[in-house]
Amino acid sequence: MSAAPIARVDLEGDIAVITVNNPPVNTITAGVRAGLRDALAQLAALPQARAVLLLCEGSTWFSGADIGEFSGPPKEAEYRELFRQLEQCKLPVVAALHGTALGGGLEISLACHYRIAAPSARMGLPELTLGIIPGAGGTQRMPRLIGAEKALELMFAGRPIEAPQAVEYGFIDALIEGDLRAGALAWTRELVKQGKAPRRTSEMKVDPVTATPALFERLAAQGRKLFPNRTVPSLAIEAVQAAVRLPLEEGLLVEDKLANQSKVLPEAKGSIHVFFAERETRKVPGLPADLKGRRIERAGVIGAGTMGGGIAMCFANAGIPVTVVDTTQEALDRGLGVVDRNYGSMVKRGRITADEKAKRMGLIQGALDYSGLGTADVIIEAVFESMDLKKKIFGALDKVAKPGAVLASNTSTLDVAEIARATSRPQDVVGMHFFSPANVMPLLEVVRTDATSAETIRTVLDLSRPIKKTPVLAKVCYGFVGNRMMEGYAREAQRMALEGATPRQVDDALEKWGMAMGILAVFDMAGVDVGVNVHKANADKYPPDPAYYQADMALHAAGRFGQKTGKGYYQYKPGDRNRYDDPEALALIAAKAKAVGVAPRQHTEQEILERCLYPLMNEGFRILEEGVVLRASDIDVVWTSGYGFPRYRGGPMFYAEAIGLKTLLDGMVRYREQFGPMHWEPAKLLVELVKSGRSVAEWERSRSAK
Ligand SMILES: NC(=O)c1ccc[n+]([C@@H]2O[C@H](COP(=O)([O-])OP(=O)(O)OC[C@H]3O[C@@H](n4cnc5c(N)ncnc54)[C@H](O)[C@@H]3O)[C@@H](O)[C@H]2O)c1
Repeated sequence: MSAAPIARVDLEGDIAVITVNNPPVNTITAGVRAGLRDALAQLAALPQARAVLLLCEGSTWFSGADIGEFSGPPKEAEYRELFRQLEQCKLPVVAALHGTALGGGLEISLACHYRIAAPSARMGLPELTLGIIPGAGGTQRMPRLIGAEKALELMFAGRPIEAPQAVEYGFIDALIEGDLRAGALAWTRELVKQGKAPRRTSEMKVDPVTATPALFERLAAQGRKLFPNRTVPSLAIEAVQAAVRLPLEEGLLVEDKLANQSKVLPEAKGSIHVFFAERETRKVPGLPADLKGRRIERAGVIGAGTMGGGIAMCFANAGIPVTVVDTTQEALDRGLGVVDRNYGSMVKRGRITADEKAKRMGLIQGALDYSGLGTADVIIEAVFESMDLKKKIFGALDKVAKPGAVLASNTSTLDVAEIARATSRPQDVVGMHFFSPANVMPLLEVVRTDATSAETIRTVLDLSRPIKKTPVLAKVCYGFVGNRMMEGYAREAQRMALEGATPRQVDDALEKWGMAMGILAVFDMAGVDVGVNVHKANADKYPPDPAYYQADMALHAAGRFGQKTGKGYYQYKPGDRNRYDDPEALALIAAKAKAVGVAPRQHTEQEILERCLYPLMNEGFRILEEGVVLRASDIDVVWTSGYGFPRYRGGPMFYAEAIGLKTLLDGMVRYREQFGPMHWEPAKLLVELVKSGRSVAEWERSRSAK
């Protein structure tokens, strides 16, 4: 028996229905393209057909191009030919979309003559966020359908839009309520009845009103703002301008050239690297392939503070009931009040409905003791950062939690193995390090101890999917991956402030380079006191450097805790998100510099970047060498998804190779000569790689071969 074809052709009265079925998400693989070519060829044998309806089976229309083909030879020409055949079809071709149509998935519909969609369908052209431009006709057909301005706005936004909005944009002709196949057939029959002919995008012209020089200028400025340090928006504009100027076939060749040009840009390489790196993190060599995680149907959270509330929201958002425990009714009310307000603002912004809010709040239950936790499949502790307290709590959880429940700590700095030893089941104990705000930040560091079982690891990695987190598996070490690398980065930023660089000078340099927020502004946001408390509690772990994190100490001593006190490295005004320079902060830091013997100096932008980023990357090599993470790209995921490192620079490990490992090593050595070895010792692995001329990937391969 032969397998069912990927694309099936059925005659329904006088409509030829092409149904594609390529589970799970109808990716446009080589097989799908071949199937479609074949299906189009079969139409010739159906003289009674008056129109063609293209549908996909399963959860979605063509979700997108095959990302596995990214690294192979260019496929644009093949797409172009297939879409040309579709568009040149003598019968009207109707595309009926449902689910999510992104990139190539949306572009294929643009080559059809009419487009209809389920109201819940979503569609978009996210290529620019990967540093590339749409390469399957999107830059040529979309402007013809909706105008140059809207087409570029859609590309710049990157995010998919909902079907009703697509109707407003003008590239979806109608919404089909109810059963899509039946509704689409009826719609197509009506089209035939009205005698509608094929409506080929190639025969349309871009509306000149949407493509004036002034509009392109505005869009170019918008592109620079939305995509700083990147050339991809200007390539997209160039492609759209070709659509205005040239016939479709010629415009497509321009698009092809620009798409291939975009793929080799460093920004595209960095973004694509991160895109794939995020898909790798759940793969754990050594875990049996058939190992199943445990089912998670109920959750518990200990502590209704900043983190506990956000974590509870993650579960409620996933439809998992969660019990939140705190010590007093007051703490509970305060914590759940914050959650309620967070959902309230999501309703206000139109992100969820009031009903949805009520449903999610209904999944969160407050409690003052552990009696409700006996049915929880996972319990996450998020109380104050105190080893004694956490051990006490884990000891108590050991008594109430059901066998096999995952017991997790959200600790940022404490030894998870020691916490695990407070229980009789260390195999079930793991770190789940969320980032603030926990309901928003995608990163989840999953910290395993030597005792954590494979099943627990699998369970947590699987759980990260419904709670919408990107997990990165790490071994126990101080600061895990992200905060450990942050140590040198922030240390130098503070040190430069002591040397007389203004906070704005430091932060501007970092932000201009691409960090989401300068590190000193981050301290103000997170609370200068939070950092100081961690440092005071862990003083024994830090090097004997009198200037170490002393800018923080100076501000802290003056009660400048950052945004929450209206003053920190900067000054803040109520109801105003701007940060203002503050001579008082500069004076406090300068006085501290004098007291600890740091001499003033001038800083170039380059020095600021090097002194912040080199120690950050250097520590990454140590983390890799020690086997704290499974692979270098996991470090890149930590920094791009949790610390505002620009995705288009690929993450610290990717960036180290982009600038050259030798450049990094030489820089470390240069600063070691200038500032001494205490903070500037190059990582052994970095030295070794430069000496042997190997790349990180080569080293990883040789290591796994051992
Ligand atoms: N705030 C952050 O940015 C952040 C980020 C990652 C991890 N963490 C870690 O998460 C944990 C919590 O931090 P936070 O910022 O949410 O603290 P928080 O002070 O906002 O909240 C702690 C909560 O725990 C409650 N609590 C204290 N003892 C308790 C007990 N015995 N039983 C039940 N509840 C108890 C407190 O009443 C309070 O509501 C810490 O381990 C912290 O290191 C914090």
